[in-house]
Amino acid sequence: MKIGVLGAGSMGSGIAQVAASFGHQVVLFDSNIAVVDKALDSMSKSLDKLVEKGKMSAEDKNALMGRIQRSDNMEDYAGCGLIIEAIIENLEIKKSVFAKLEGIVGDDCILASNTSSLSIASIAAACKKSERVIGIHFFNPAPLMKLVEIIPAVQTSKGTLDQSKAIIDSWQKLTVLTKDTPGFIVNRVARPFYGEALRIFEEGIADIATIDWAMTELGGFRMGPFTLMDYIGNDINYTVTETVFTSFYYDPRYKPAFTQKRLAEAGYLGRKTGRGHYNYAEGTQQPVPNKDEQLGRMIFDRILVMLINEAADALFWQIASREDIDTAMMNGTNYPKGLLKWADEIGIATCVSRIDSLYELYREDRYRCSALLRKMAGEGKSFY
Ligand SMILES: NC(=O)c1ccc[n+]([C@@H]2O[C@H](COP(=O)([O-])OP(=O)(O)OC[C@H]3O[C@@H](n4cnc5c(N)ncnc54)[C@H](O)[C@@H]3O)[C@@H](O)[C@H]2O)c1
Repeated sequence: MKIGVLGAGSMGSGIAQVAASFGHQVVLFDSNIAVVDKALDSMSKSLDKLVEKGKMSAEDKNALMGRIQRSDNMEDYAGCGLIIEAIIENLEIKKSVFAKLEGIVGDDCILASNTSSLSIASIAAACKKSERVIGIHFFNPAPLMKLVEIIPAVQTSKGTLDQSKAIIDSWQKLTVLTKDTPGFIVNRVARPFYGEALRIFEEGIADIATIDWAMTELGGFRMGPFTLMDYIGNDINYTVTETVFTSFYYDPRYKPAFTQKRLAEAGYLGRKTGRGHYNYAEGTQQPVPNKDEQLGRMIFDRILVMLINEAADALFWQIASREDIDTAMMNGTNYPKGLLKWADEIGIATCVSRIDSLYELYREDRYRCSALLRKMAGEGKSFY
């Protein structure tokens, strides 16, 4: 099947590489052809490194690159069976592009969006055959991250869903099925990892180095929240939080933090600008964590239980299955364990009492316990 990729930025180029590596002819189009050339150049260089390391043969590399057609003409999409759109995150632009695509491709071509935050239903509404539209959400970098969220809209047909899943599964990705709701699984359930860490910092309970130390050393997370925010970029991470917050009708659980907003405004975006929560200038003395076990445990327990509450609530609202929620968080954000499995290990009743004590202290809706957790604790149930 010929695959079309629309947009050759960070995501589009990665997705094109994945599709070509599984033998597909790929049309890689961008409104700016220079971006396509740049993407192909950097793809070629990164594949050269695999060849040097003996992980790929030079013939395979050349064959892969040969399967990707550079394009500055959308008519090249004629004959594609699936098109994955990865252009700018703007609903009106995406809608007009989807409407235009329909005039080029055949009736059975699936049109997918890689959007992180827009509703798939609203994009599908731009198409005459809206049943062929679906969300296929890759993670960055697409060639390395195993997880792909599949998001059928209310209009999506079962055939479109089954076929899309089969194609992405054949690319050796781990697919999870999620409802067309803000943040899907990962960008929703992960919010407290940043939000609760920022809150603990803003209250003066601990500094950023101590919070990062607690989450990595005591919690087993690969990166602490502040290191990760600097890695993602405080502008991007802040915008995702703000979008999820507003999309959920201002649910206080997702409320963004001024600390991060100010960093974004100041241009302290993280690694990419040399300064974020941390200062990456050479020779800068990094803050030293306070390795107080008791303080560290308290921080870790608090952030983890807020993550568990979020995961349980996603299950409660049937956003995804328990297995898919755990798979998504382990593979989309590299969490050391599935959050629902983790809840079982801690004990559901213990999770509920930890959340309730936060609520007792703050009396804020942010700390309300998911009805599912409370019900399960009452019935002595576990997730698995
Ligand atoms: N970057 C991430 O971590 C990430 C992860 C998952 C999903 N996404 C989503 O993927 C999409 C793309 O993100 P990105 O980070 O690759 O963006 P990017 O800015 O790196 O690339 C976007 C590309 O789209 C092109 N473009 C813009 N308008 C166009 C149009 N009308 N027609 C054709 N090309 C057009 C631009 O020239 C640019 O090259 C967005 O919807 C984003 O929300 C991003």
